[in-house]
Amino acid sequence: MSNILYDFGVGRSDPSTFPTQALQAAAVKVIAEQAEELTMYPGGLGHAGLREAMAKREGDREGVRIDPDHLIITNGSMQAVTLTAEALQEDKGDTVLVEEFSYPGTLGAYRSLNLEMIGIKLDEGGMRIDHMEEQLERLEQQGRRPKFIYAISTYQNPTGFVMPKSRRQEMIDLAAKYQVPIVEDNCYADVHYEGDVEPALFALDDRPEHIYIGSLSKILAPGLRLGYIYARPPMLEKILARRHDAGSNYLASAIAAEFYKDGIQAHADVANPVLKNKRDLTTAGLAAEAEDICVWSNPVGGLFVWVRLPDDVDQPKLNKLAGENGFKFLPGIAFHYQNKNVPYIRLAFGHLTESQIEQGIPVLARCIREARTSNERRSFDRLFD
Ligand SMILES: Cc1ncc(COP(=O)(O)O)c(C=O)c1O
Repeated sequence: MSNILYDFGVGRSDPSTFPTQALQAAAVKVIAEQAEELTMYPGGLGHAGLREAMAKREGDREGVRIDPDHLIITNGSMQAVTLTAEALQEDKGDTVLVEEFSYPGTLGAYRSLNLEMIGIKLDEGGMRIDHMEEQLERLEQQGRRPKFIYAISTYQNPTGFVMPKSRRQEMIDLAAKYQVPIVEDNCYADVHYEGDVEPALFALDDRPEHIYIGSLSKILAPGLRLGYIYARPPMLEKILARRHDAGSNYLASAIAAEFYKDGIQAHADVANPVLKNKRDLTTAGLAAEAEDICVWSNPVGGLFVWVRLPDDVDQPKLNKLAGENGFKFLPGIAFHYQNKNVPYIRLAFGHLTESQIEQGIPVLARCIREARTSNERRSFDRLFD
């Protein structure tokens, strides 16, 4: 069978809460009102209304004032990831620090730019500061300074972990000591389910070289292809100097700006409970079906559950069985900074229906059991040793 019945593959927003009518109304309005602007190129910074709406989004959450003229609208946050790397890179082979498990799009972009990635070990609080310090010290001894640290510190992809505030401060202090900029990718911000919200790094890091990346993909829809960079001068100019595409989609920006003119919370209040319920169904399914063989994260936001597989799983066999049974996930190897085959899988729960989740997890559990060489209980109690 090649049909995908249970698509836990790509991180996407919930389709049932997509605000079709509100966006249709916004489109009619902005096309009439901004017809003249639509006949022009948007320019490097992009649609002023969307920059204002996103400055308000970030400022309200973090309790700081953001200048909309320090925001650059991009073609999804993926363009922001690539543009910032290009701006900070000086040579092929330049070093950057990344989480040991990170977003495959970023890893792919950095590989294409021939950046040398150094993976920082993770625990349940995100990047381990002791390991980061060790690597920064080692590099300094060799006369090498990393060009930047790429960090997804909130609802990390793929693990879902959130770095606590105290660790964020330690990381910023360490980055300042070794004079390394941080590129903060916060594309899951506002996909929040429960508990306190940790501050974004940019709200704690006063250094002008700090770069912040946001997105509308996860709070609205990836098809809009809208993201942004928040960077202060002179970093702002340095990034803009790398941009040669005359700006991002003005129509999509205008529609999103109109939709969010009163803030982003109203739609988040509709979408997040639906996503939270899907997270609960996913983790409850794992608890019922795979508690004796797997351990997984319980994310307080974002779109992913990271699952540790028993050591004796034959991964090619698991991939084959899952495919034959219509179950799609992304294997751990896709997230490892060196493409290492690791015994993990990522489940993206945002796009499926609730019944697909309920029916799919038992299918996955059966495939995992069948791909093992024993029936023994797992030999670990945590996601990481
Ligand atoms: C951490 C991270 N950054 C960036 C992106 C790119 O998202 P987009 O370009 O749709 O904003 C993703 C998508 O999954 C992601 O997980």
